[in-house]
Amino acid sequence: MILAMIVAIDQNNGIGKNGDQLAYISADLKRFKELTTGHTIIMGRKTFEALPKGALPNRRNVVITRQKDYKATGAEVVKSMVEAISLCSDDQKVFVIGGGEVYKAFLHEADELYLTEIHHSFDGVDVFFPEYKSLGWKETFRQDNMIDEKTGLTYSYINLKSFGRFDCV
Ligand SMILES: NC(=O)c1ccc[n+]([C@@H]2O[C@H](COP(=O)([O-])OP(=O)(O)OC[C@H]3O[C@@H](n4cnc5c(N)ncnc54)[C@H](OP(=O)(O)O)[C@@H]3O)[C@@H](O)[C@H]2O)c1
Repeated sequence: MILAMIVAIDQNNGIGKNGDQLAYISADLKRFKELTTGHTIIMGRKTFEALPKGALPNRRNVVITRQKDYKATGAEVVKSMVEAISLCSDDQKVFVIGGGEVYKAFLHEADELYLTEIHHSFDGVDVFFPEYKSLGWKETFRQDNMIDEKTGLTYSYINLKSFGRFDCV
C-alpha cells in the first residue's frame, strides 16, 4: 500500500478556517477528483462532516473518530491511525485527505505528498498542515505559475516522495 497525503496549503502552511477550506480552485478540485477516484480516502470526522454531499463517490471512504458507535453513511469508520492503516493494507493507494489533526497523525507514515501551494497568506487561518519539510522528501513533479481566473490566486502543484527516513538507523 502506498500512503499519500493530498492537501492545499497557503504560504504559512494554513489549510482551513472556520471549518472550511481556504479557497476553492476549480482546477485543483478537478485534480483532486482525478487523483483520488478509484482509490481509498481517509479523513477526519470533521472533514467528513463538512463534505457538502457526504461520502465522495467512486472512492472507498474511511472516517477516523474516537467516538464510539459513530455512523458515517457511505463510509467505513475506524478509531485510530493504526486501525485505518490495517483496514486499508491491501489497497493499492490510499490518500489521507485531511484535516489538520489527521494530517499530523499520518505524516510520519506518508510515502507521498501531493501539495497545492497557494501563493497567498490568508487571514484568520485556524488549521495548519504540520511542519513536513525536515522529514526528507524528493520532489518528483512541479507545475508552477498557474492562476485561478475566478479568485485571481496563483498556485503550484508539487509532488514529493519520502526518502531516507531510516538511513540513520
Ligand atoms: N486545505 C486542504 O487541503 C484541506 C483538506 C481537508 C480539510 N481541510 C480543513 O481542515 C479543517 C478540519 O481539520 P481539523 O483538524 O479541525 O479536523 P479533522 O482532522 O478533519 O477531524 C478531526 C477529528 O478526527 C478525529 N481524529 C483525528 N485524529 C484522530 C486519531 N489519531 N484517532 C482517532 N480519531 C482522530 C477526531 O474525531 P472525533 O472528535 O469525532 O473523535 C477529531 O476531532 C477544516 O477547516 C477543513 O476545511 C483542509
